[in-house]
Amino acid sequence: MSEEHTLSATGLKVAYDQREIIQNLSVEIPAGKITVIVGANACGKSTLLRTLARLLKAKAGTVHLDGKDIQQIPTREVATKLGLLPQSPSAPEGITVADLVGRGRYPRQSWVRQWSRADDEAVAGAMLSTNVLDLADRPIDELSGGQRQRVWIAMALAQETGILLLDEPTTFLDLTHQFEVLDLLVDLNRRDGRTIVLVLHDLNQACRYADHLIAMKKGDIVVEGRPAEVITEAVVEDVFNLAVRIVPDPVAGTPMVVPIGRHTSSVDSHRPDDIRPAVATGTLPGASGVGVGGQNGVAASALAASALANGICRPQDT
Ligand SMILES: Nc1ncnc2c1ncn2[C@@H]1O[C@H](COP(=O)(O)OP(=O)(O)O)[C@@H](O)[C@H]1O
Ligand SMILES: [Mg+2]
Repeated sequence: MSEEHTLSATGLKVAYDQREIIQNLSVEIPAGKITVIVGANACGKSTLLRTLARLLKAKAGTVHLDGKDIQQIPTREVATKLGLLPQSPSAPEGITVADLVGRGRYPRQSWVRQWSRADDEAVAGAMLSTNVLDLADRPIDELSGGQRQRVWIAMALAQETGILLLDEPTTFLDLTHQFEVLDLLVDLNRRDGRTIVLVLHDLNQACRYADHLIAMKKGDIVVEGRPAEVITEAVVEDVFNLAVRIVPDPVAGTPMVVPIGRHTSSVDSHRPDDIRPAVATGTLPGASGVGVGGQNGVAASALAASALANGICRPQDT
């Protein structure tokens, strides 16, 4: 798979009925690179990915695949160039793992081209690299969330497309499998020059694995570029409304995001003064040493009322 496909969009406007999610978005996905999209819940990441994959039709603007308007390209041709693993894929009831992965090959079948050895090899290769070969005969519905996720990834890989879009592929996976999947995507990118776009929630993984990082907010791209340029304390504050410190990842040297939060499990004196949150802390009856932040009075009354209602303890002085 040496051919590189290009994917870009200009002036996209995307809406569900009358509700506009994306107003005017243009993007160029770097060919042969790994692009990671980050952003808060509901900011439009999945909507953008589905539009790029032609599952949603933009109200205005154009998606270009290999320089052509994607709406003008036959479905089968799109499916041999571009694959999408949706955020919540659904499988036909009772289908087995091997059958589902085999469906990744459907766009390559036709009345002149029956199932071939190349199809068998693609399916086996995809199952091997996602470590699901031993699940081949199991029905999908019987698998754990993590196993199922790996099967979906196998199906997307079996499609052998030059462009692979994956919407939160690490959801449901334990940490080991998260890194296995991310490393596998890097292998595919380096070995075959595949263009990979993925949505990730973990900013540290995003910084580590992205050649190109896109930060989205309210249906628009706030900033994009190399992770070190994109992931700054100011951008994280703006995009996620979260106060963080950024330090170099001790393994990769890429930005590592450390949320400040309001609580740590260690004693307060262990925290350096400069990251102590600027909120008052207080002590609740029966909850010694637990800070409740600026809403102290309200929270204390609510807790006391709740405790009283439950007959657990009698509030002392509220
Ligand atoms: N099928 C749909 N119908 C109507 N609204 C939708 C649909 N899918 C998503 N939305 C809305 O569009 C907005 C963006 O959703 P989405 O693209 O899924 O965000 P993200 O992937 O960033 O969490 C959200 O407000 C969501 O509720
Ligand atoms: Mg989403």
